[in-house]
Amino acid sequence: MKKKTVAGLLTLCMAAGMMIVPQTAVMAEEESGGKLVGVAMPTKDLQRWNQDGDNMKKSLEDAGYEVDLQYASNDVATQVSQVENMISNGCDILVIASIDGSSLGEPLSQAKEAGIPVIAYDRLLMESDAVSYYATFDNYMVGQKQGEYIVEALNLEEEEGPFNLEIVAGAPDDNNANFFYGGAMDVLQPYIDEGKLVVKSGQTEFEECATQAWDSAKAQDRMDTIIAGNYSDGTNLDAVLCSNDSTALGVANSLAASYTGEYPVITGQDCDLANVKNLIAGKQAMDIFKDTRTLADQVVTMVEAVLSGEEAEVNDTESYDNGTGVIPTYLCEPVVVTADNYQEYLIDSGYYTEDQLQ
Ligand code: BGC
Repeated sequence: MKKKTVAGLLTLCMAAGMMIVPQTAVMAEEESGGKLVGVAMPTKDLQRWNQDGDNMKKSLEDAGYEVDLQYASNDVATQVSQVENMISNGCDILVIASIDGSSLGEPLSQAKEAGIPVIAYDRLLMESDAVSYYATFDNYMVGQKQGEYIVEALNLEEEEGPFNLEIVAGAPDDNNANFFYGGAMDVLQPYIDEGKLVVKSGQTEFEECATQAWDSAKAQDRMDTIIAGNYSDGTNLDAVLCSNDSTALGVANSLAASYTGEYPVITGQDCDLANVKNLIAGKQAMDIFKDTRTLADQVVTMVEAVLSGEEAEVNDTESYDNGTGVIPTYLCEPVVVTADNYQEYLIDSGYYTEDQLQ
């Protein structure tokens, strides 16, 4: 809708005493031209992606865009066809949180050919030169903070140990999982090398610790086996580095079913409701809060810049090479949440209500 037409309509409506659309909404629509944004999310199974999708939709609509939001049930073929449909439906820009970062080569080439810019959301899209920007939380820092938490909780600087640690990493086809693992292991490896931390299962390599699809049941199965083989005789397990909340839940379930020693320090990420409840109940020591509202706002700012032909704001132009070169990235900052500060970060900030945590 052109400026004059909007102004003219408003005058007409006022003259006729009709209800007037708030001017800010009209202006937002006018600036964004009602453009269509395709938003592809991996799955509804994990709480965080529902929040990401809802926040993106709301922020984009508030800014005057039309939104085609799709979830792919963690099925790569579904996500491929959803993105292809978004392209053939004439979307103006794509925002994609991939299931498998390397599996969207074909639709991404189609997007490039059609001149549709692509923003990688939270997870980097690999091996494609169609990606303009990437917005995420600082994934390496997430891992570092998890590692540092374990160092402090076990007081590794002062105590002699040795302490027993097990490692549960994320999905091997998610580029983030390597960053989480890498950030944490850069902190913990020196203690493993000096023998203060012992991984009794012997499983320390990423491939050995990875959890397909970040699946809680798979993390639980692997932990069951590790407990049966190493901790069923009453040996204490002191800490479990879990890369995120879905894996932490699997580990907590396994411990509840078959572990009798002192309860270990468990890390997590996402502040999913079930895990925040576990924090409060003392069944998970820490969590990483990634405020999905912040990420959504940042991505909306990126969308606006790209669609106006401007450069988007970034704060990292080194860390995220997707195989075709470094993708300019905006990194949001993750925060450590515990039973002591969840009130401030999660309740006072309006992320959750008290009731949701009952
Ligand atoms: C996200 C995490 C999430 C995990 C599983 C990762 O890519 O960064 O926040 O826990 O996927 O969905």
